Amino acid sequence: MSSRARRWAVVPAAGRGERFGGSSPKQYVTLDGRPMLSWTLSALLAEPSIAGVMVAIAQSDRRWYRLAESKDPRVGCCLGGASRAESVALALQALGPLASGEDWVLVHDAARPCLAREDLRALLRAIERDPVGGLLAHPASDTLKRADEEGRAEETLPREGIWRAQTPQAFRYGLLCRSLALCRERGRMVTDEASAVEAMGLRPLLVRGRGDNLKVTSREDLSMAEAVLRARSRR
Ligand code: CTP
Ligand code: MG
Repeated sequence: MSSRARRWAVVPAAGRGERFGGSSPKQYVTLDGRPMLSWTLSALLAEPSIAGVMVAIAQSDRRWYRLAESKDPRVGCCLGGASRAESVALALQALGPLASGEDWVLVHDAARPCLAREDLRALLRAIERDPVGGLLAHPASDTLKRADEEGRAEETLPREGIWRAQTPQAFRYGLLCRSLALCRERGRMVTDEASAVEAMGLRPLLVRGRGDNLKVTSREDLSMAEAVLRARSRR
């Protein structure tokens, strides 16, 4: 069964980057001379077993067609929605004519440009025979505090077993569509695919990835992402 399943990637890239700010959405900000989305897509395209990548872009997006990767024969695009979950759902719909229920879909944020090849490979290897699917994640290393309404530490939370979820998150096409549809029906907001799958009563596999597969959320993340990419290109 798994040997015939193909692999697809879905990249939600239709966000406005409000926390990041600036005149252009963060996925087009330049990192070491290349737009962020270009780094993100080339990390996925470097994996030859990925049959195609569907990118969800905003209606107002004028930069997409100028991106070199938009012309790659394995890359397609569709319109995204008002939330990340909607953009992912629309990209899955756009993959509908191509993907079968047993195919794997890797959902990867446009805002995570530092995905390492060995992490992508590790995820693919780990989920290959898994009945549920899984995601890259990194064990939390900071001490965790719960804040009260005044912003004072009220409690120190146990860190054991706490992981930071990253992307890619890889699930079978059929399961992913059913999980996201169920969350939509129940009016449940999900910020990643794994939580939709968890809501089905399933337990996605946590695959340990590098800590530097960071998501660019605010300005201060940019220099860190750039440093990671520069250090890697020197290797
Ligand atoms: N995303 C999307 N469609 C949306 C909202 C988000 O495709 N309607 C994408 C973003 O482009 C990003 C990923 O989902 O690649 C993760 O979202 P986030 O980091 O929150 O990005 P933004 O929503 O753009 O940022 P912000 O929440 O600060 O506005
Ligand atoms: Mg957002």
